[in-house]
Amino acid sequence: MKAIILVGGQGIRMRPLTNHIPKNIVPLCGVPFLTYQVEALRKAGIREIVFSIGYRPQDIKKVFRSGSHLGVKIHYALESHPLGTAGAIKNAEKFVKGSSTVVFNGDILTDIPLSTMIKLHKKKKHWATLGLVRVEDPMAYGLVLLDAKNNITKFLEKPAAEEVVTDTINAGVYVFEPQVFDLIPEGVNYSAERALFPHLLKDHHPFGGYVWEGYWQDIGTPKKYLTSHWDVLNGVFPVHAKLEQKHNHIYMGKNIKLGKGVLIKGPVIIEDGCVIHEDARILPYAVLGKNCVIGRKSIVSRSVLWEGVQVGEHVNLDEVVLGRHCSISSHSRVGAGSVLGDRARV
Ligand code: GTP
Repeated sequence: MKAIILVGGQGIRMRPLTNHIPKNIVPLCGVPFLTYQVEALRKAGIREIVFSIGYRPQDIKKVFRSGSHLGVKIHYALESHPLGTAGAIKNAEKFVKGSSTVVFNGDILTDIPLSTMIKLHKKKKHWATLGLVRVEDPMAYGLVLLDAKNNITKFLEKPAAEEVVTDTINAGVYVFEPQVFDLIPEGVNYSAERALFPHLLKDHHPFGGYVWEGYWQDIGTPKKYLTSHWDVLNGVFPVHAKLEQKHNHIYMGKNIKLGKGVLIKGPVIIEDGCVIHEDARILPYAVLGKNCVIGRKSIVSRSVLWEGVQVGEHVNLDEVVLGRHCSISSHSRVGAGSVLGDRARV
């Protein structure tokens, strides 16, 4: 069993955070997002993973290299122009030829039990098995209808309100047999959701679903990206960053300077080299990247600050995401829900 992770999208909905970094490697609690997927695959015994990449490939290669530091072998399938979700899978075929393959959309965070899903896939002799989850608002996703034997009977991508007939959606995790690759044309833009899956249905190939009732989130928007941090800090996933856990889920790196009267309440993450001045408060669900500076009497809660953010005195940050090296001057206001790209100044 091998795996392909789709890492080629531009992450437009995550702008301005993704103006200078691909969505799939934005930090999540101190490590690049894809670390969580690599870890899930490794736990399922999959050691060979292909990153199917298009947007800013060098940024991704620089971070993940050969994969040996994560206990896996990573191959890179590069595309010169966006091939769409199925086209990108086909482009990675040479690394997985002849093998059953798990495919992950590179922007989902889930604890779906891959080993159980693979077992079901094999037992049912499916050509393709889709991971499925139930959501409250299914309209933005691909709806999937199943029969009593878990065979997929209908696939509806991003339906209109009146077409919504189920809350079960495509979770962006698949298991494919090698035959599925033969259905994808080479070198052209081809969508898994709009073309490949309807094709599997139309030709009556064995095509099933595995419904997962556990955790699932896509990090497609800044709001979802922010709440993913809260879920990790609540213990849904381990904190993978190399940090020391103090009491009350306070995770701290090295060389941190704390001024007099600083209050820290977990769960929080404070990475290496941060400086927190007198009487500042770092409150639950604050995540401070490396070398952030928090000024006197400032407060940070439920917010994510990337590396090198400078915050002046008497600033209150709640529910914000600040890109690398942003600078917030003393006494300024940054409203809840604000998202600032790298090097923004307020
Ligand atoms: P938005 O631009 O905000 O919609 O995000 P996105 O570009 O990442 O698109 P979307 O969320 O639909 O993509 C789902 C997954 O498929 C993401 O992990 C993308 O990186 C990946 N993906 C989408 N299109 C392509 C493509 O053309 N090539 C490759 N290699 N991956 C893709």
